[in-house]
Amino acid sequence: MRALRYSLTAAFALLLAVPAPATADERLVVGGQEVKTADAPWAVALASRARFGTTRSGQFCGGVVVARSTIVTAAHCLTRDVLGTEPSAATDLRVIVGRDDLRGTAGKELAVKEAWVNPDFSAGTNAGDVGVITLAEPLPDGRTIAMAQQGEPVYAANTPAMVYGWGDTQGNGSYSDTLRAAPVLVLGDELCEQAYPGGLEGAYDRKTMLCAGWAEGGKDACQGDSGGPLVAGGRLVGLVSWGSGCAQPGRPGVYTRISAVSAMVTAHSVDKKPHGPQGPAQLARPAVPK
Ligand code: ARG
Repeated sequence: MRALRYSLTAAFALLLAVPAPATADERLVVGGQEVKTADAPWAVALASRARFGTTRSGQFCGGVVVARSTIVTAAHCLTRDVLGTEPSAATDLRVIVGRDDLRGTAGKELAVKEAWVNPDFSAGTNAGDVGVITLAEPLPDGRTIAMAQQGEPVYAANTPAMVYGWGDTQGNGSYSDTLRAAPVLVLGDELCEQAYPGGLEGAYDRKTMLCAGWAEGGKDACQGDSGGPLVAGGRLVGLVSWGSGCAQPGRPGVYTRISAVSAMVTAHSVDKKPHGPQGPAQLARPAVPK
Protein backbone atom coordinates (compact mmCIF):
# COMPACT_ATOMS: atom_id res chain seq x y z
CA MET A 1 0.00 0.00 0.00
CA ARG A 2 2.70 2.35 1.02
CA ALA A 3 4.77 1.42 -2.03
CA LEU A 4 1.81 1.98 -4.29
CA ARG A 5 1.03 5.30 -2.73
CA TYR A 6 4.66 6.28 -3.16
CA SER A 7 4.76 5.39 -6.83
CA LEU A 8 1.47 7.19 -7.46
CA THR A 9 2.85 10.24 -5.72
CA ALA A 10 6.02 10.01 -7.76
CA ALA A 11 4.07 9.66 -11.00
CA PHE A 12 1.92 12.65 -10.07
CA ALA A 13 4.97 14.74 -9.25
CA LEU A 14 6.43 13.82 -12.63
CA LEU A 15 3.24 14.90 -14.36
CA LEU A 16 3.39 18.25 -12.61
CA ALA A 17 7.03 18.68 -13.55
CA VAL A 18 6.32 18.30 -17.27
CA PRO A 19 5.23 21.74 -18.52
CA ALA A 20 1.69 21.66 -19.82
CA PRO A 21 1.23 22.98 -23.35
CA ALA A 22 0.15 26.61 -23.31
CA THR A 23 -3.59 27.05 -23.71
CA ALA A 24 -5.41 30.28 -24.42
CA ASP A 25 -6.19 30.73 -20.74
CA GLU A 26 -2.64 30.48 -19.51
CA ARG A 27 -1.20 32.97 -21.92
CA LEU A 28 -0.03 35.93 -20.12
CA VAL A 29 0.21 38.48 -22.81
CA VAL A 30 2.52 41.19 -21.69
CA GLY A 31 3.28 37.96 -20.01
CA GLY A 32 6.75 38.22 -18.73
CA GLN A 33 6.69 39.89 -15.43
CA GLU A 34 5.88 42.94 -13.40
CA VAL A 35 8.46 45.71 -13.77
CA LYS A 36 9.02 49.04 -12.03
CA THR A 37 8.92 52.39 -13.80
CA ALA A 38 12.18 53.15 -11.97
CA ASP A 39 13.76 50.54 -14.26
CA ALA A 40 11.85 51.74 -17.34
CA PRO A 41 11.43 55.48 -16.65
CA TRP A 42 10.65 56.23 -20.31
CA ALA A 43 7.53 54.04 -20.23
CA VAL A 44 4.48 56.23 -19.62
CA ALA A 45 0.71 55.80 -19.58
CA LEU A 46 -1.74 57.92 -21.56
CA ALA A 47 -4.88 58.57 -19.61
CA SER A 48 -8.27 60.20 -19.79
CA ARG A 49 -10.51 59.66 -16.79
CA ALA A 50 -13.47 61.31 -18.50
CA ARG A 51 -13.28 58.78 -21.30
CA PHE A 52 -11.94 55.61 -19.63
CA GLY A 53 -12.97 55.86 -16.00
CA THR A 54 -11.07 56.44 -12.78
CA THR A 55 -10.17 52.95 -11.52
CA ARG A 56 -6.90 52.59 -13.44
CA SER A 57 -6.12 56.34 -13.52
CA GLY A 58 -7.92 56.48 -16.89
CA GLN A 59 -5.12 54.61 -18.69
CA PHE A 60 -5.87 53.63 -22.31
CA CYS A 61 -2.54 53.57 -24.19
CA GLY A 62 1.19 53.69 -23.65
CA GLY A 63 3.80 56.22 -24.67
CA VAL A 64 7.55 56.77 -24.55
CA VAL A 65 9.66 59.69 -23.31
CA VAL A 66 12.20 60.50 -26.05
CA ALA A 67 13.07 63.99 -24.81
CA ARG A 68 12.17 66.10 -21.78
CA SER A 69 8.97 67.50 -23.28
CA THR A 70 8.42 64.92 -26.01
CA ILE A 71 6.35 61.75 -25.77
CA VAL A 72 5.88 59.42 -28.74
CA THR A 73 2.84 57.20 -28.98
CA ALA A 74 0.72 55.52 -31.64
CA ALA A 75 -1.34 57.74 -33.95
CA HIS A 76 -4.31 55.46 -33.40
CA CYS A 77 -4.26 56.31 -29.68
CA LEU A 78 -4.97 59.95 -30.53
CA THR A 79 -7.82 59.50 -32.99
CA ARG A 80 -11.38 60.68 -32.58
CA ASP A 81 -12.39 57.02 -32.42
CA VAL A 82 -10.37 56.50 -29.25
CA LEU A 83 -10.59 59.92 -27.60
CA GLY A 84 -14.13 60.76 -28.65
CA THR A 85 -12.92 64.19 -29.76
CA GLU A 86 -9.96 65.77 -31.51
CA PRO A 87 -6.87 65.55 -29.31
CA SER A 88 -6.85 69.35 -28.91
CA ALA A 89 -10.31 69.12 -27.33
CA ALA A 90 -9.41 66.23 -25.01
CA THR A 91 -8.69 68.55 -22.11
CA ASP A 92 -8.25 65.79 -19.54
CA LEU A 93 -5.67 63.91 -21.63
CA ARG A 94 -2.73 63.22 -19.30
CA VAL A 95 0.68 61.60 -19.48
CA ILE A 96 1.39 59.61 -16.32
CA VAL A 97 5.02 59.06 -15.38
CA GLY A 98 6.47 57.02 -12.53
CA ARG A 99 3.25 55.26 -11.51
CA ASP A 100 3.86 51.50 -11.36
CA ASP A 101 0.38 50.74 -10.09
CA LEU A 102 -2.44 52.65 -11.76
CA ARG A 103 -4.66 52.24 -8.69
CA GLY A 104 -2.31 54.55 -6.78
CA THR A 105 -1.24 58.16 -7.06
CA ALA A 106 2.54 57.76 -7.28
CA GLY A 107 4.54 59.72 -9.82
CA LYS A 108 3.20 62.63 -11.79
CA GLU A 109 0.35 63.41 -14.14
CA LEU A 110 1.34 65.87 -16.81
CA ALA A 111 -0.94 67.99 -18.93
CA VAL A 112 -0.55 68.07 -22.68
CA LYS A 113 0.41 71.24 -24.49
CA GLU A 114 0.04 69.85 -27.97
CA ALA A 115 -0.65 66.58 -29.72
CA TRP A 116 0.46 65.93 -33.28
CA VAL A 117 -0.90 62.96 -35.19
CA ASN A 118 0.93 61.77 -38.30
CA PRO A 119 -1.36 62.97 -41.12
CA ASP A 120 -0.20 60.00 -43.21
CA PHE A 121 -1.46 57.50 -40.64
CA SER A 122 -4.00 55.21 -42.24
CA ALA A 123 -6.47 53.48 -39.94
CA GLY A 124 -7.05 51.02 -42.79
CA THR A 125 -3.47 49.79 -43.14
CA ASN A 126 -2.08 51.05 -39.80
CA ALA A 127 0.89 52.48 -41.72
CA GLY A 128 2.62 55.47 -40.09
CA ASP A 129 1.15 54.77 -36.64
CA VAL A 130 2.91 57.54 -34.73
CA GLY A 131 2.01 60.70 -32.87
CA VAL A 132 3.94 63.19 -30.76
CA ILE A 133 2.74 64.71 -27.50
CA THR A 134 4.37 67.88 -26.21
CA LEU A 135 4.12 68.11 -22.43
CA ALA A 136 2.96 71.30 -20.76
CA GLU A 137 6.11 71.17 -18.60
CA PRO A 138 9.38 69.33 -19.21
CA LEU A 139 10.30 66.21 -17.27
CA PRO A 140 13.53 66.10 -15.31
CA ASP A 141 16.55 64.71 -17.16
CA GLY A 142 17.18 61.00 -17.07
CA ARG A 143 13.82 59.65 -18.14
CA THR A 144 14.47 59.56 -21.88
CA ILE A 145 15.38 56.74 -24.25
CA ALA A 146 17.11 57.22 -27.59
CA MET A 147 15.34 56.30 -30.80
CA ALA A 148 17.08 53.67 -32.93
CA GLN A 149 18.23 54.80 -36.35
CA GLN A 150 18.03 52.97 -39.64
CA GLY A 151 20.72 50.35 -40.11
CA GLU A 152 21.37 49.85 -36.42
CA PRO A 153 22.04 46.22 -35.49
CA VAL A 154 19.01 46.18 -33.12
CA TYR A 155 16.82 45.74 -36.21
CA ALA A 156 18.47 42.43 -37.17
CA ALA A 157 16.25 39.34 -37.06
CA ASN A 158 16.27 37.50 -33.73
CA THR A 159 17.44 40.48 -31.67
CA PRO A 160 16.04 40.07 -28.15
CA ALA A 161 13.71 42.91 -27.18
CA MET A 162 11.27 43.80 -24.41
CA VAL A 163 7.78 45.24 -24.76
CA TYR A 164 6.23 47.26 -21.90
CA GLY A 165 2.69 48.17 -20.99
CA TRP A 166 -0.35 48.23 -18.72
CA GLY A 167 -2.48 46.44 -21.31
CA ASP A 168 -4.49 43.25 -21.43
CA THR A 169 -2.61 40.30 -19.91
CA GLN A 170 -4.78 37.53 -21.35
CA GLY A 171 -6.45 38.80 -24.49
CA ASN A 172 -9.86 38.90 -22.82
CA GLY A 173 -10.04 42.42 -21.42
CA SER A 174 -8.00 41.77 -18.26
CA TYR A 175 -6.15 45.06 -18.15
CA SER A 176 -3.16 45.17 -15.86
CA ASP A 177 -3.01 47.52 -12.88
CA THR A 178 0.77 47.31 -12.87
CA LEU A 179 3.41 47.85 -15.54
CA ARG A 180 4.52 44.61 -17.15
CA ALA A 181 7.16 43.63 -19.67
CA ALA A 182 7.58 40.61 -21.89
CA PRO A 183 10.60 39.41 -23.85
CA VAL A 184 10.11 39.01 -27.60
CA LEU A 185 12.39 38.58 -30.61
CA VAL A 186 12.58 41.04 -33.49
CA LEU A 187 11.51 38.87 -36.43
CA GLY A 188 12.73 38.98 -40.02
CA ASP A 189 10.63 40.87 -42.56
CA GLU A 190 9.95 37.70 -44.60
CA LEU A 191 8.36 36.06 -41.58
CA CYS A 192 6.29 39.15 -40.81
CA GLU A 193 5.09 39.32 -44.42
CA GLN A 194 4.14 35.65 -44.33
CA ALA A 195 2.18 36.22 -41.14
CA TYR A 196 0.35 39.27 -42.50
CA PRO A 197 0.24 39.12 -46.31
CA GLY A 198 -2.81 41.38 -46.42
CA GLY A 199 -6.54 40.97 -46.45
CA LEU A 200 -8.68 41.14 -43.34
CA GLU A 201 -5.84 40.73 -40.86
CA GLY A 202 -3.86 43.65 -42.25
CA ALA A 203 -0.72 43.85 -44.32
CA TYR A 204 2.81 44.05 -42.99
CA ASP A 205 4.84 46.89 -44.52
CA ARG A 206 8.58 46.39 -43.98
CA LYS A 207 9.41 50.05 -44.58
CA THR A 208 7.27 51.43 -41.76
CA MET A 209 6.65 48.43 -39.48
CA LEU A 210 8.52 45.74 -37.64
CA CYS A 211 7.18 42.57 -36.07
CA ALA A 212 8.23 40.74 -32.94
CA GLY A 213 7.18 37.70 -30.96
CA TRP A 214 7.79 33.97 -30.76
CA ALA A 215 6.98 31.21 -33.27
CA GLU A 216 5.04 29.39 -30.55
CA GLY A 217 3.26 32.55 -29.36
CA GLY A 218 2.69 33.04 -25.64
CA LYS A 219 4.32 36.44 -25.16
CA ASP A 220 3.14 39.58 -26.88
CA ALA A 221 1.70 43.04 -26.47
CA CYS A 222 -2.09 43.32 -26.44
CA GLN A 223 -4.95 45.81 -26.25
CA GLY A 224 -4.09 48.78 -24.05
CA ASP A 225 -0.35 48.48 -24.77
CA SER A 226 -0.53 50.51 -27.98
CA GLY A 227 1.87 53.38 -28.30
CA GLY A 228 4.15 51.80 -25.72
CA PRO A 229 7.82 50.90 -26.17
CA LEU A 230 9.59 47.98 -27.77
CA VAL A 231 13.19 48.28 -26.57
CA ALA A 232 16.32 46.48 -27.76
CA GLY A 233 19.95 47.19 -26.95
CA GLY A 234 18.93 50.17 -24.84
CA ARG A 235 17.21 51.81 -27.83
CA LEU A 236 13.58 52.44 -28.66
CA VAL A 237 13.02 50.30 -31.77
CA GLY A 238 9.22 50.17 -32.04
CA LEU A 239 5.82 51.30 -30.78
CA VAL A 240 3.04 48.79 -30.09
CA SER A 241 0.65 49.13 -33.04
CA TRP A 242 -1.41 46.09 -34.07
CA GLY A 243 -1.68 42.33 -34.40
CA SER A 244 -4.17 39.55 -34.92
CA GLY A 245 -5.38 38.57 -31.48
CA CYS A 246 -2.62 38.50 -28.89
CA ALA A 247 0.25 36.03 -28.38
CA GLN A 248 -1.12 33.56 -30.93
CA PRO A 249 1.36 31.27 -32.68
CA GLY A 250 2.18 32.61 -36.15
CA ARG A 251 0.60 35.99 -35.33
CA PRO A 252 3.41 38.21 -34.08
CA GLY A 253 2.86 41.70 -32.73
CA VAL A 254 3.35 44.49 -35.25
CA TYR A 255 5.11 47.71 -34.24
CA THR A 256 5.73 51.12 -35.78
CA ARG A 257 9.35 51.03 -36.96
CA ILE A 258 10.91 53.92 -35.04
CA SER A 259 13.78 54.46 -37.50
CA ALA A 260 11.18 55.14 -40.21
CA VAL A 261 9.43 57.87 -38.23
CA SER A 262 12.16 59.37 -36.03
CA ALA A 263 12.71 62.30 -38.41
CA MET A 264 9.01 63.19 -38.13
CA VAL A 265 9.22 62.91 -34.36
CA THR A 266 12.24 65.20 -34.31
CA ALA A 267 10.51 67.68 -36.59
CA HIS A 268 7.54 67.85 -34.21
CA SER A 269 9.55 67.99 -31.02
CA VAL A 270 10.22 71.22 -29.13
CA ASP A 271 13.30 69.61 -27.59
CA LYS A 272 16.76 70.16 -28.98
CA LYS A 273 17.96 66.59 -28.60
CA PRO A 274 15.13 64.12 -29.06
CA HIS A 275 17.60 61.50 -30.35
CA GLY A 276 19.63 61.34 -27.18
CA PRO A 277 23.42 61.53 -26.89
CA GLN A 278 24.31 59.83 -30.19
CA GLY A 279 21.51 61.16 -32.37
CA PRO A 280 21.92 62.89 -35.72
CA ALA A 281 19.89 65.89 -34.55
CA GLN A 282 22.78 66.74 -32.29
CA LEU A 283 25.47 66.04 -34.85
CA ALA A 284 23.69 68.30 -37.30
CA ARG A 285 23.57 71.20 -34.86
CA PRO A 286 26.29 73.26 -33.25
CA ALA A 287 26.51 72.84 -29.51
CA VAL A 288 24.12 75.13 -27.68
CA PRO A 289 25.29 76.48 -24.34
CA LYS A 290 23.06 75.27 -21.52
N1 ARG B 1 -4.09 48.05 -31.06
C1 ARG B 1 -3.79 47.63 -29.74
C2 ARG B 1 -3.95 48.81 -28.77
O1 ARG B 1 -4.57 49.76 -29.13
C3 ARG B 1 -2.47 46.96 -29.65
C4 ARG B 1 -2.53 45.60 -30.21
C5 ARG B 1 -1.22 44.91 -30.22
N2 ARG B 1 -1.47 43.56 -30.53
C6 ARG B 1 -0.54 42.60 -30.54
N3 ARG B 1 -0.93 41.38 -30.76
N4 ARG B 1 0.71 42.87 -30.31
O2 ARG B 1 -3.61 48.74 -27.62
